[in-house]
Amino acid sequence: AVIGIDVGTSAVKTVAVAYNGRVLGSASVGFPLSSPRSGWAEQDPEDWWQATVQALRDLLQRLQRDGTALDVTGIALTGQMHGLVLLDADGAVIRPAILWCDVRTADEARQLEREIGKDAIIRWTQNPPLPNFTLTKLMWVRSHEPEAYRRTQVILNPKDYVRFRLTGTLCAEYSDASGTLLLDVEKRRWSSELCKAVGVPEAWLPPLTESTDVVGRLTAEAADAVGLPAGVPVVAGAGDQAAGAVGLGVHDPGVVSVIFGTSGVVLAPTDVPVRDAAGCLHTFCHGLPNRWFVMGVTQSAGGSLQWLRDRLFPDESYDSLMERAAGVSPGAEGLTFLPYLMGERTPHLDPYARGVWIGMDWRHGPGHLARSVIEGVAFSLYDAWRVMETLGVPARVFRVSGGGARSELWMRIFASVLGRSLEVVHASHGPAFGAAVLAALGTGQTIDDAWWGGGTSVSPVKDWETVYAKRHALYAETYRRLRDLFPALA
Ligand code: XUL
Repeated sequence: AVIGIDVGTSAVKTVAVAYNGRVLGSASVGFPLSSPRSGWAEQDPEDWWQATVQALRDLLQRLQRDGTALDVTGIALTGQMHGLVLLDADGAVIRPAILWCDVRTADEARQLEREIGKDAIIRWTQNPPLPNFTLTKLMWVRSHEPEAYRRTQVILNPKDYVRFRLTGTLCAEYSDASGTLLLDVEKRRWSSELCKAVGVPEAWLPPLTESTDVVGRLTAEAADAVGLPAGVPVVAGAGDQAAGAVGLGVHDPGVVSVIFGTSGVVLAPTDVPVRDAAGCLHTFCHGLPNRWFVMGVTQSAGGSLQWLRDRLFPDESYDSLMERAAGVSPGAEGLTFLPYLMGERTPHLDPYARGVWIGMDWRHGPGHLARSVIEGVAFSLYDAWRVMETLGVPARVFRVSGGGARSELWMRIFASVLGRSLEVVHASHGPAFGAAVLAALGTGQTIDDAWWGGGTSVSPVKDWETVYAKRHALYAETYRRLRDLFPALA
């Protein structure tokens, strides 16, 4: 069997997978996130390590209890992207990790734009300077904690730190490194140009590998801690978005992944790096050789529905809210919702945007509110896809997963907005499973389609397509007309 480890933002998840793709068992151990000031998000890398040890021990214990014999031939990691871990000359952690969702670095992102220029940065790294990227966090440490910066010898992303604890080897791989803003995503090498321009020593950046490379072996000490034999090969693994896609069989151009999670993600593999000149898509290396992907994000997808439920209908189940929505005709009788409760990444890159209901009148009740919210989220994910479509990204299959994919109504709405059939995948173990796939690939196992199983097909509804084409145009126009107003609302 192989094991995937996902160092997430709230927990470490481990999953053991047999060579035929069957999940044998999983375990999860949580850890805290600290926010010492508003907008800050930090974690102690030691907590990730302790949670990894525990989640591996729990997994092995569970399997043993079930009588499942386990011969582990490979381990790979995935995890939250963009986080900054700083190590000193002895390999000790210097300060708490600054996470992807920490927004203290808006000034650093602007400074990069001012001093180096967005065009040069996109040319060197294929991505624009955004506050969630690792480089801005490093710049923040340089200007606010010079002592910590002076001691720095190594920069790592979260899962690479845990791999270091498992193997004693320092390395990074292309997919996670894509989110640092220090990688030349096209050439798959650190960007010496950008390092020089910002004054970051390239020597601090660990050697790069492919996601499927074996980069080390379990040390005796780590083996003892986690309860596995020493010497098990450890495969590099990938950032959570890349690993998630690998785990869904989203490897090659033509298969597009759409995830209805708290946030929504549209991700499309390509065989050359494709980039959006406005920088509203992420262009990252995929977790497979010679593959890249473009990715667009709807900040509040399932999050919008959760907000509606928690704040307005706390006594109702999601199922009953969806039933109410199903009782309302498409277009929610003129009620339109913009799901920008947390600003929006794709296609607007607008942190000031906020949620909007427009067109409300006396007829409207709970069902209309619910229907307009799920329609608005479908429009937003469609917007992300449209940016890719304009760039010539191919789509043969739309493979949809995540909590929202459990609603048949939501899937029919999305298919009708898109004007395409969907392949809806229900069972998914997320990025941890993708890491297990990478562990298998990296240790010479062959993988076939049985690993991701089939999906159910959901087709667009002809009449709805016509309605949604019109309503989407109004939805887009609403944002255009309100855009300048949002910053003043804050
Ligand atoms: C990717 C991103 C998230 C984080 C946390 O750009 O911000 O997927 O990796 O999960």
